[in-house]
Amino acid sequence: MHTCSASTGASSVTSGLDLHPRSPDNGLVTPLRPLSARCLVSASVCKADIVTPPLAPARPGKLPTAASVAPIALPELSIGGIALESPFLQAALSGYSDWAMRVMARRYGAAYSVCEVMLDRFVREVKGTCRTRHHLMVTDEEHPVGAQLMGADPADFAPAALRLADAGFDVIDINFGCPVKRVLGRCRGGYHLSQPSVAIEIIHRVRDALPPAIPVTVKLRSGINESDESRDRFFTILRAAFDAGIAAATVHGRTVEQRYNGPSNWEFLRHVKQQFPDRTIIGSGDLFSADACLRMLTETGVDGVSIARGAIGNPWIFQHARVLARDGILSPPPSVHQQAHTLREHFELAAHACGAQRALATMRKFAIKYARSHPHHVHVRNAFATAKNVDQWQAVLEKWYAADAPGCYPLVNEVAPERVVG
Ligand SMILES: Cc1cc2nc3c(=O)[nH]c(=O)nc-3n(C[C@H](O)[C@H](O)[C@H](O)COP(=O)(O)O)c2cc1C
Repeated sequence: MHTCSASTGASSVTSGLDLHPRSPDNGLVTPLRPLSARCLVSASVCKADIVTPPLAPARPGKLPTAASVAPIALPELSIGGIALESPFLQAALSGYSDWAMRVMARRYGAAYSVCEVMLDRFVREVKGTCRTRHHLMVTDEEHPVGAQLMGADPADFAPAALRLADAGFDVIDINFGCPVKRVLGRCRGGYHLSQPSVAIEIIHRVRDALPPAIPVTVKLRSGINESDESRDRFFTILRAAFDAGIAAATVHGRTVEQRYNGPSNWEFLRHVKQQFPDRTIIGSGDLFSADACLRMLTETGVDGVSIARGAIGNPWIFQHARVLARDGILSPPPSVHQQAHTLREHFELAAHACGAQRALATMRKFAIKYARSHPHHVHVRNAFATAKNVDQWQAVLEKWYAADAPGCYPLVNEVAPERVVG
């Protein structure tokens, strides 16, 4: 029986969540500083304009370099009956993995993508208005694509799952990972890791409601916290989930209490895969470069990797990972002209989904991240952050992307985002 007293909290705007995360440098406008000439184009890692203090990449010492590594044989990955062409997947990202980002990810080499999380009630009630209809938008080009559900009451999940399947999503994923306080307070997301019986009931309800051809998957963090009790609950849920017929589990190697502090525990991912050698386990956490994606596969044995923050404004990461695995060579970062092309392509998709004005608001968040690949990234980021209309947006492109130059690998500079799910 579900006992959370706060579970009736009103849901909100767009996807039913008012979580649209502000990633750390989102909207941040730092004063312009003189350009330094320290762009290490030869190493293809741009160190110009780094905001001090430059944080270490998630895996220190593993900044991408042009060095080659031994090619690796990639694991074959299927989700239920859906065979994927590679193990490099676009993660669910609230506020980001909308239709446009998913299409971009697929065009740039992701084998599969997951929509940003949606509340069960929102999915059931969403109307086809121009403000909201893009949430259920699925097009031919993006298959296979997953939708993700979050909620409190097991009874609310099945009707929502059916609606998502009707909308054309190929896989239904259940979120047991969101660490946002307000979400936990309403007994949603990561909260379910503390109550295996409710989590298991949700899985059964969704699995039983959907046709067998539609795979059901779960996304979990490694537990509520590091305690043995929490770990036992994690395994209780995962074992029951596989027994109930889920096709795959994505595991983020951080606990709910940990949020984004500290590294993702890849050792835990390795342990999970060892416990479930015949099941499909997808790893998540600290995948900021092609190299990191390959290392997660080889170091943990997971079947696939779910690329999250590392893909925001960096859709090239999927192709780079594929080439690195196949040829052992890290592709050069996209040139400034290639970046401009990609930004325009992304903007057009966003405008197609929700109109140019609304697209501008979303695209500002992305552009701030795209700017990390530009040799003058702070200037470009600030210019995008202050673009108030489409003309100003175009002007930024015309000014900063007119002259071609080698691009840079984004220097990962992530700090703990406070308001994200996962
Ligand atoms: C801005 C943001 C939004 C996220 N939204 C979701 C989401 O909707 N569903 C989900 O399962 N995980 C979500 N996550 C978690 C990511 O999918 C991923 O598990 C996590 O970021 C760890 O991977 P990373 O360290 O490579 O970013 C989100 C993370 C971030 C940073």
